[in-house]
Amino acid sequence: MSIGEAVPHESAALHVTGQALYTDDLVRSTKDVLHAWPVQAPHAHARITSLDPAPAYDVEGVVRVLTKDDVPGVNDAGTKHDEPLFPDEVMFYGHAVCWVLGETLEAARLGAAAVRVEYDPLPSLITVREAIAAESFQGARPKVARGDPEAGLAKSAHVFEGETEMAGQEHFYLETHASLALVDEGGQVFIQSSTQHPTETQEIVAHVLGLRSHEVTVQCLRMGGGFGGKEMQPHGFAAVAALGARLTGRPVRLRLNRTQDLTMTGKRHGFHATWKVGFDDDGHLLALEATLTSDGGWSLDLSEPVLSRALCHIENAYWIPDLRAHGRVAQTHKTSQTAFRGFGGPQGMLVIEDILGRCAPLLGYDAAELRHRNLYAAGQATPYGQVVRHPERLDRAWQQVLTEAEFVQRSKEIADFNASQPRVKRGLAITPVKFGISFNLTAFNQAGALVHVYKDGSVLVNHGGTEMGQGLHTKMLQVAATTLGLPEEKVRLAPTRTDKVPNTSATAASSGADLNGAAVKDACEQILARIAGVEGTTWEERVRAAYMQRIQLSAAGFYKTEGLHWDAATMSGEPFKYFAFGVAAAEVELDGSTGAYDVRRVDIVHDVGDSLSPLVDLGQIEGGFVQGAGWLTLEDLRWDESDGPDRGRLLTQAASTYKLPSLGEMPAVFNVSLLQDATETGAVYGSKAVGEPPLMLAFSVREAIRQAVAAFGPAGVSVELASPATPEAVFWAIESVRTVTHALA
Ligand code: MTE
Ligand code: MOS
Repeated sequence: MSIGEAVPHESAALHVTGQALYTDDLVRSTKDVLHAWPVQAPHAHARITSLDPAPAYDVEGVVRVLTKDDVPGVNDAGTKHDEPLFPDEVMFYGHAVCWVLGETLEAARLGAAAVRVEYDPLPSLITVREAIAAESFQGARPKVARGDPEAGLAKSAHVFEGETEMAGQEHFYLETHASLALVDEGGQVFIQSSTQHPTETQEIVAHVLGLRSHEVTVQCLRMGGGFGGKEMQPHGFAAVAALGARLTGRPVRLRLNRTQDLTMTGKRHGFHATWKVGFDDDGHLLALEATLTSDGGWSLDLSEPVLSRALCHIENAYWIPDLRAHGRVAQTHKTSQTAFRGFGGPQGMLVIEDILGRCAPLLGYDAAELRHRNLYAAGQATPYGQVVRHPERLDRAWQQVLTEAEFVQRSKEIADFNASQPRVKRGLAITPVKFGISFNLTAFNQAGALVHVYKDGSVLVNHGGTEMGQGLHTKMLQVAATTLGLPEEKVRLAPTRTDKVPNTSATAASSGADLNGAAVKDACEQILARIAGVEGTTWEERVRAAYMQRIQLSAAGFYKTEGLHWDAATMSGEPFKYFAFGVAAAEVELDGSTGAYDVRRVDIVHDVGDSLSPLVDLGQIEGGFVQGAGWLTLEDLRWDESDGPDRGRLLTQAASTYKLPSLGEMPAVFNVSLLQDATETGAVYGSKAVGEPPLMLAFSVREAIRQAVAAFGPAGVSVELASPATPEAVFWAIESVRTVTHALA
């Protein structure tokens, strides 16, 4: 199980046999547990005029109704203090106004139904366009700028303007939000939570309960998926469970059912963008002016950093000399939108990919050629001032995809196919990814680990990261085993806990392995250094001898990423340690009479540096790609936008109405290669982060659909495509190109 070995995920067997334990499974081995159920408001926006819990107590088995009067500390679930845990004002349809604890889940549910709440409905904003019209914004309005975009546009031979709107995305992790809280005889609070950010969960619980951090411990065994949805959103649920446990003296379990999770928790931000772009006669991007408005929902949550990352990725992999991109967060009466794989990066990048896909025909260029022509070259810097190291790797990946996918040959075959098929058309597109690795906020780029070597030579590793299926624990075992030079069976991993490794950052920004891996390595190296002079032929002998010599066999490791700096006020600096690269080519086939399509083939070359764990990385690339394709082509969040009584209600509240990618939507041929000879000197064992970047390889599917749609119209037609490009949206796009009688160019 050393670095670079293709080992399975450390819990793979447990996952597939159903033996892996998740937070809510721990209820089975906990006595006297109370169950929590929310009272959800049936208004998008309303003032609560009265709340009477008394009728709930008439329901058999109801133990306690939790309201804002019960909060001993701060009545807020967020770090921005704009998220009252028990609100006076309902801010979205389904907002929990109070919680009922029952001996059974059924008792809690019936109790919640009995709570009498009266509302005074208020006007609401549901769509991002409504919010823009009403100038309803929240938080900072950052701007990334370089050069003189007005002058750049003025000297451009070709200038285009447009709008791009993209929907958000539901995380749909298999395990919904869950917390189990206990209070011991000394008042110490222990919470098991499905959280990507145990430290922040700990801090919020402490605030709500009026405690200090050392009185609260949070543990996360593993998550059944997080995808960013458990970076900030678990805190309030953990706080409700902890409050209940403290007030009743009994363990409290809070697990959302699927509908509750869908209606109460944040999603990927939808974005609206306006843009103006300039090209020279050779298809080079000269200037871009854009305004990005994200749909933040009711509170800020992570909307500001998500927006920053969107702005820092608006150029994707392309050199744009003069650029200005404004950002703002709309406030709407919806769930508070949050982190989701890519953290705004995908939304920013979609803007430029949409621009290139729409402008290529207008410029008379093949889209692949237009994209390639604009890729970063050596020495060029991003609009926020960071030089892009190793852009030649991006080109190398591009060339490798062209070769492996037989791109030129297949493009010709597809042109012939399209010429002979009136009803069915194919498209083949290639798109790049460049994604910055590190948290934009420099302080978050630190991690800790705690490694124990016991007298018998066995090793227990704690680190500050959480496992959500991405294989972080597998990689950490590999790092520890390799650093110590031990076989896998001598190293074990302990659950993530705030009393083992404190002050952790969220496991997010794809940096879990980079940060925690370096911290684990540091701890192991400290121990190795201490026992370096100790005699013994086996590891066990040396450990035993070291103990007899009273050498400390436990070490706390630490790591901070060096060389980062970021000025949030001017949105400039070097926020990223490095960039992850990837290139994908996708082929689709469209049915012109229905808009339905199949992904026939996908070829990916992705850069993970020297892979820590190739099977895990392959899984991340495939999974990320498919999740991205889901966002762009299938998953269609709908809210009631009418003026009726259900205004603001999420209409897609179940897997039956929210289409997720399934086996049927997998590419029929799916080739993934790792870019070779791509050592990353800035990260542990030459590796690169992999969690998020592959999601954006799915732009290739959207662009392939665009090409296939274009084949239904005259040559040179520019295709506008909705996002998601669902079959229905694709059908309408085909209809609109069919009515174009001549190309616009
Ligand atoms: N993979 C699985 N299976 N499940 C997940 O929840 N989350 C993604 C990615 N891959 C996720 C996943 C997100 S949003 C991030 S930021 C990274 O994993 C976090 O883990 P890492 O930093 O260890 O890569
Ligand atoms: Mo990932 S969106 O950074 O949790």
